[in-house]
Amino acid sequence: MPVAPVLILLGPPGAGKGTQARMLEEDFGLVQLSTGDLLRAAVAAGTEAGRKAKAVMEAGQLVSDDIVLAILKDRMAAPDVASGIILDGFPRTAGQAAALDTLLADAGQRVTAAVSLEVDDEAMIARVSGRYTCGTCGEGYHDQFKQPAKAGACDKCGGTAFKRRADDTAETVRERLNAYHAQTAPLIAHYDGQSVLERVPAMGSIASVRAMLADIVGRVSA
Ligand code: AP5
Repeated sequence: MPVAPVLILLGPPGAGKGTQARMLEEDFGLVQLSTGDLLRAAVAAGTEAGRKAKAVMEAGQLVSDDIVLAILKDRMAAPDVASGIILDGFPRTAGQAAALDTLLADAGQRVTAAVSLEVDDEAMIARVSGRYTCGTCGEGYHDQFKQPAKAGACDKCGGTAFKRRADDTAETVRERLNAYHAQTAPLIAHYDGQSVLERVPAMGSIASVRAMLADIVGRVSA
């Protein structure tokens, strides 16, 4: 279990959760826990959970709480999370939020901050459909907003193979936006009620959002 801090990044597809979580790892030594990445790894490995999740993810809907919670609890039991975590894409339902509260309370902890990345839905379609990642190290890029410094080679590892996600079509992104508004956006009020909510306007540049998040992490971990 993480000692501290426990940060949550909330926001619709394309809001920048993964991009910013990876930067927070670099800046603060926290560990990114992305349930999307964990589920994609389960799909790629062909586990029972992955086989159940695959079609649901491709349709842009939410995977069941029991599958997601099992995968997340497993990951949170690893020793590397002791320096603190950034939850990217979790929780996404009221059930997941309640389960997280219980898990943390059992360990004498609580959520340190829940950051809502606030963006315009329509811009998210362009953000998500232009996204690609390095096939070797997973570094994220965008056709328009974040290209590698040297065309065709990853800035981080030099890899030359890139990939795009199966669920990044405009149609599926609309489904994912609907799922976000119906099932995840209500969690903003949940964390406001716990007095740990931070709202961050996230339509600016990646660097400007990074600076706002660094301020928040510095403040809440002081
Ligand atoms: P998941 O992998 O979590 O996807 P998502 O929430 O839809 O979020 P994205 O990864 O699309 O966006 P992001 O906010 O991380 O944006 P990014 O930083 O990449 O989930 C996928 C699926 O798995 C779900 O649909 C569901 O089926 C399942 N799932 C996962 N977790 C679950 C859970 N807890 N419960 C149930 N089901 C679950 O940025 C996007 C692009 O924009 C990048 O190219 C980036 O370079 C660019 N960019 C980022 N910030 C900026 C900026 N400020 N300006 C310009 N460009 C930017």
